[in-house]
Amino acid sequence: MEKIPARTDPADEVRRWVIPGESRVYVLTFGCQQNEADSERLLGLALSMGYGRADTPEDAELILVNTCAIREHAELKALSIIGGFKHVKEKNPRVIIGVCGCMAAEPHRVEDLKRRYPYVSFTLEPAKIASLPSLLAGVIRTKKRAFLLPDEPTAVPPIDEGIPVERLSRHKAWVSIMYGCNNFCTYCIVPYVRGRERSRESGEVLSEIKGLAASGVKEITLLGQNVNSYRSDCDFAGLVRRIGEIEGDFRLRFMTSHPKDVSDDLIACFGTVPHLAPQFHLPIQSGSDGILRKMNRRYDVARYLSIVERLRARDPAITLTSDVIVGFPGESDADFEATLDLLRLVRFDAVYSFIYSPRRGTPAAEYPDPVPPDVSRARMRRLLDLQCEISAEKNRPLLGQTLRVLCDGPSPDGTPGIMTGRTAGGKLVHFPAPEEVAGTFVQIKIDRADAFALRGTLTE
Ligand code: 5AD
Ligand code: SF4
Repeated sequence: MEKIPARTDPADEVRRWVIPGESRVYVLTFGCQQNEADSERLLGLALSMGYGRADTPEDAELILVNTCAIREHAELKALSIIGGFKHVKEKNPRVIIGVCGCMAAEPHRVEDLKRRYPYVSFTLEPAKIASLPSLLAGVIRTKKRAFLLPDEPTAVPPIDEGIPVERLSRHKAWVSIMYGCNNFCTYCIVPYVRGRERSRESGEVLSEIKGLAASGVKEITLLGQNVNSYRSDCDFAGLVRRIGEIEGDFRLRFMTSHPKDVSDDLIACFGTVPHLAPQFHLPIQSGSDGILRKMNRRYDVARYLSIVERLRARDPAITLTSDVIVGFPGESDADFEATLDLLRLVRFDAVYSFIYSPRRGTPAAEYPDPVPPDVSRARMRRLLDLQCEISAEKNRPLLGQTLRVLCDGPSPDGTPGIMTGRTAGGKLVHFPAPEEVAGTFVQIKIDRADAFALRGTLTE
């Protein structure tokens, strides 16, 4: 009788390869919050297979680079850092380098990594994080590199529940509620690299959040490329209301929303649903209806303004932030002036602005009339100057107020004794305080307000 070999669990195969106390993993993250959340799952998987955590790539036997493809600059930066890992592999042949994230879902990048980066062992696209153990086991067993062709953009990958997560913060947590994007804004690579929209079951989301709240997490951010198009047995507003019923002292935020999916019901959640922070990030991208049409954004300026008006009617102090792209193909001086006018009219608290970067495979990459780089840069400078003035003006009324701030930890610039945190509206605050307050809510009296940050002092 033929003997059927016992099936081995790929994670066990990796465990046998890992040297306890010696083999460590290093995860490097580029890009958005979704990538930060994905990295926590990559790390969780690696730790579950026996790897320890490395503080530097030089200390690691498994290096995972979680990449971003949103703009060319992000890709070039990742490639240059991956190039630097060549010497790590040369020093220790046991080192395995994997490229994950959105670049690993671009067929031309996968090809390029395979040909020009021989020390990279595999690529792993974002929708397939759960296959890290089998991919690694294959690389270890066969000593061959693995460059899988990414799924077709039409694919709806399954949602993998139950992947171990190693959360990098004890007081803040990301919770992905949906994956992918169906919007196909003409400049954007996301729908091609993260596949079709799919939402997690509400029960899964709610039980994850209950667990986080019970463990004392102070801030939960719901994530999705198009978070407010969430749909399972309830819509997004319904999910937010159900999260509002969960006990605990935590703030709830969400990102990123699309204006076309902002419902009245969602607007009505602000000020009524417990936990929900008074903050809304709502990308406008351009203040010109003609450009919005070419971007396939499916709203016009009037519709956007009506959302802002209704949000502010509910809560005049709500923090509003946005994304803007400068130098989209065909953007005329008049189009750009319309964007500046829009910023003057809405008066966002902050705007994240980006110079348009053509992405291979997107419709806009083929559009005529590129804006010359020096024109884009000059427009960007004007936009930044204007928004800087507006942000400073918006922050000034906070002077003298005492605000509840969630302390994140020591100031990232390393100034001794200075801690940083965020207000309910998401504004950055620096204040002198002992390190013990990290991860707790504190009352801060604001005594300085600049465009990008507030400063204050701890009160009882
Ligand atoms: N070029 C420049 N900016 C882009 N964004 C998305 N795609 C591009 C691109 N090709 C910006 C949008 C989006 C933010 C996350 O990145 O403003 O909201
Ligand atoms: Fe990209 Fe538009 Fe989808 Fe946002 S909504 S991820 S900008 S395609």
